[in-house]
Amino acid sequence: MSLEKRPLTLTINDKPVGPIDVPVGMPMIDFLHGYLNLTGTHFGCGQGVCHACTVMELRPDGSATESRTCISDAHFFNGKSIRTIEGHAQRDANGEVRELTPVQQAFIDHFSFQCGYCTAGFVAGATVFIDQLKRKPVKRAELETAIEASLDDHICRCTGYVRYYEAVKSVALATPGCVVD
Ligand code: FES
Ligand code: FES
Repeated sequence: MSLEKRPLTLTINDKPVGPIDVPVGMPMIDFLHGYLNLTGTHFGCGQGVCHACTVMELRPDGSATESRTCISDAHFFNGKSIRTIEGHAQRDANGEVRELTPVQQAFIDHFSFQCGYCTAGFVAGATVFIDQLKRKPVKRAELETAIEASLDDHICRCTGYVRYYEAVKSVALATPGCVVD
């Protein structure tokens, strides 16, 4: 990593961040952990394989995509908007969680995770998937295949994935406009 620093400005969880001088080449996950104390994004493989470190990148057109923060430099996100796991649930003025998102609640209701190390990445991936379904619904008969294709890259060492996929299916079926007959 270079010791050269450059300013970084972005939006994280709907709040403006920066400009902050950040070392050129610093991975985004290190910036989140070390500069902002946003430690809910987990470091797994560090090589772009496991997707534990995934956050949501919010595009100007309102759509969202997944980004792995272990293989992307912090400056890659300059001028962009992201959502980390800390920014999903609704919180009160004291920062206490008031209401989980449907994806988060479904993961709990379905006992989808065990150690939880992969869960922040799954929340990001599943939320992006549901957002995509709202824009481009799938047929009911194709939903399970679509879920598996969407979350296939997320690795979980504890579970058999079935409960994660069942949880996402329940959210898709309960969210108007995601599934067509
Ligand atoms: S820690 Fe980023 S993909 Fe594994
Ligand atoms: S719940 Fe432990 S790695 Fe997924």
